[in-house]
Amino acid sequence: MESSLEAQVGPLRLERPTVLASGILGISVEIFGRLHGAGAGAIVSKSISVEPRDGYPGPTVVPLGGGGWINAVGLSNPGAAAFAGMIRDNRTVPIIVSLVGSAPEEFSSMVERFEGCHIAGYEINLSCPHVDDVGLEVGDDPELVSRVVRATKSAASVPVFAKVGLGRSDYLDTVSAAIDAGADGITAINTVQALAIDIEAQRPKLSNGIGGLSGIPIGTIAQRCVAQIHSQFDIPIMGCGGVSTWEDAVALVLAGASAVQLGSALGYGSPDRVFADVNDGIARYMERKGVRSVREMVGRALA
Ligand SMILES: Cc1cc2nc3c(=O)[nH]c(=O)nc-3n(C[C@H](O)[C@H](O)[C@H](O)COP(=O)(O)O)c2cc1C
Repeated sequence: MESSLEAQVGPLRLERPTVLASGILGISVEIFGRLHGAGAGAIVSKSISVEPRDGYPGPTVVPLGGGGWINAVGLSNPGAAAFAGMIRDNRTVPIIVSLVGSAPEEFSSMVERFEGCHIAGYEINLSCPHVDDVGLEVGDDPELVSRVVRATKSAASVPVFAKVGLGRSDYLDTVSAAIDAGADGITAINTVQALAIDIEAQRPKLSNGIGGLSGIPIGTIAQRCVAQIHSQFDIPIMGCGGVSTWEDAVALVLAGASAVQLGSALGYGSPDRVFADVNDGIARYMERKGVRSVREMVGRALA
């Protein structure tokens, strides 16, 4: 039986169901192309703001053991004008541009810049857990979420995903506001706010103190969130969080994700192998279970 690894996430069609998560391995189009060639169905860029941001001083990313990482990078990025220049000549890599900001006009002005580029979609970062005024602080305000998503959608000609995470308010209110405002899909989840103490130095391991936990320890939290969104809303989901093996990817799909993003896994495995290994494992699982398409498996664990 021929089974297909193609994934359909609402209006976004992907040749393969695995996607590079935002903020991982920099923003070079060469690296994006290499990862796409090595099996990634699409690439989400680092979150981009209107103006360049320097981010925090080091340490900004620390491994914790057990496949966990904590980071507070501070959303360092070259700004929308510079990043649009970097990707302007790209024709082959499906790039989803991640956008971050605090006011609706910032999002529409960034989209206007990127509309001249050949991109696959936008992902609105409503969930960065460690930078004031953006990310979770926007995601925690459903009224602002609604205005940000509307502003992005009204300027965009490609699909718009809203990336949610666990903040102070109920993240399902953020999901609901984003859907009502016209989001084409939801990405869930971002890192989970955390603190790691260096007991020898007797201070936090990150320069920022608070950071975001990612990797294997958040995998089951991501499965829970994806399942909740899938069962409460009729919206395509890109699952993200703790995927390091094909089994983790299949679990997120069975929980309700139409495609799966990988972030921290790129820190443990060879970037040239991770996507291919996960894709091959999914394909073998589909053969074994007699499944012809990824779509058939979406949410099956909850049916
Ligand atoms: C070093 C680092 C930088 C990140 N930067 C961003 C970012 O700019 N925008 C964003 O939406 N998510 C960012 N994330 C979160 C990831 O995209 C992803 O949601 C999270 O790491 C959970 O997935 P994982 O467990 O596969 O790593 C970052 C994560 C890490 C580890």
